[in-house]
Amino acid sequence: LIIKTIINFNFFHKEMPAVNAQEKEILKISVLGAAGGIGQSLSLLLKSNAGFLLPHETSTHIRLSLYDVNKDAIVGTAADLSHIDTPITTTAHYPDDSNGGIGQCLSNASVVIIPAGVPRKPGMSRDDLIGVNAKIIKSLGEDIAKYCDLNKVHVLVISNPINSLVPLLTNTLIRSDANGNSNIESRVYGITQLDLVRSSTFVQQLNGFKSNTSPVIPVIGGHSGDTIIPVFSTLERDPEYANLLDNGMRLKMVHRVQYGGDEIVKAKNGNGSATLSMAYAGFKIAAKFIDLLVGNTDTIDDIVMYVPLTNRNHQEIAPGSNELRSRYINDLLYFSIPLSINRNGIKKIHYEILENLDSYERDTLLPICLKTLEGNIETGLKLV
Ligand code: NAD
Ligand code: LMR
Repeated sequence: LIIKTIINFNFFHKEMPAVNAQEKEILKISVLGAAGGIGQSLSLLLKSNAGFLLPHETSTHIRLSLYDVNKDAIVGTAADLSHIDTPITTTAHYPDDSNGGIGQCLSNASVVIIPAGVPRKPGMSRDDLIGVNAKIIKSLGEDIAKYCDLNKVHVLVISNPINSLVPLLTNTLIRSDANGNSNIESRVYGITQLDLVRSSTFVQQLNGFKSNTSPVIPVIGGHSGDTIIPVFSTLERDPEYANLLDNGMRLKMVHRVQYGGDEIVKAKNGNGSATLSMAYAGFKIAAKFIDLLVGNTDTIDDIVMYVPLTNRNHQEIAPGSNELRSRYINDLLYFSIPLSINRNGIKKIHYEILENLDSYERDTLLPICLKTLEGNIETGLKLV
């Protein structure tokens, strides 16, 4: 009876072998920091919903590869997720595990999503996180360079401060790829989608949720305070919302989006920052990459992220845009902006949005954003 119990225990507590999955082409998504508040919720959304994005007759299997420095939490998270009845496999990885640690987590990954790092407490700014989170991102960047195919992988950063960590990660990857000639810098992205989600939500709240659809408001610049520019002028073209932001309401809404993160930090009262809404925003972005990589589309066209605008040779990431970049954003090297992305990375940067800003956005919000963002980028580059 004892032997039988041991055999049963081992059988059920090992990950069930994914027999059919082995015969399929694996689309591997690695989440680094997967045992945290964002990591767990995002992994849940991926495990429960990513399968619905697969084409009907597909030869692709999605594997979620979860890494965290907190061993018990990551093993538990992966085990828990593995009981969800969707055809997606989950694996747990932690430093020095017998399964190859982070190397095994990252090898052959097509998409790496990074929510690893400490969140804010009341009274802190995102910039106050740089000391701890820069070390984490730099070390993860070195691991990505070591174990991933830099000619292929797409790297999505959630950890704060995004404005500085994306420049730091991009240049860590470039430095680690010194003898290679990958175009990894056109596949590193900071996720600023939560700002778009908030803008849409706050407008709907103001409108009393009268519409059944959510307005899409691009948010450009960076991801902290006055670097966040919600482009509410786009609503003027939408009859449903055209006059909603008159009479001073526009200023209040811009401020609410810029400091939306503080509302959650305050409400959580020392227990971290946004996790659930961030996981939702992160999944929206991840879903677009899954669509691209399983062949539902050749290009992602409806996406805004914070990205490098030039490559290691100081050429435009998306050729032909030099003139617009210097005209509107002072030759800034990183910016959150609408993009078109294909399997090779950024294909087009939609600088047109800068030409279409209204005077409040162009003459008031943009100059303030650029000044702060320039300093944030400098901070990240110094830490490489
Ligand atoms: P959390 O503390 O709940 O989770 C972080 C996880 O990272 C933990 O499980 C921790 O063990 C893990 N970790 C720490 N060092 C690691 C390493 N070297 N390798 C792998 N894992 C490591 O925090 P959270 O609430 O999930 O937030 C994570 C980060 O995301 C914070 O920096 C936060 O500011 C940021 N954030 C960004 C946005 C955005 O819009 N981009 C939104 C919300 C939060
Ligand atoms: C947010 O916008 O909610 C995140 O960047 C977390 C934070 O620190 O506010």
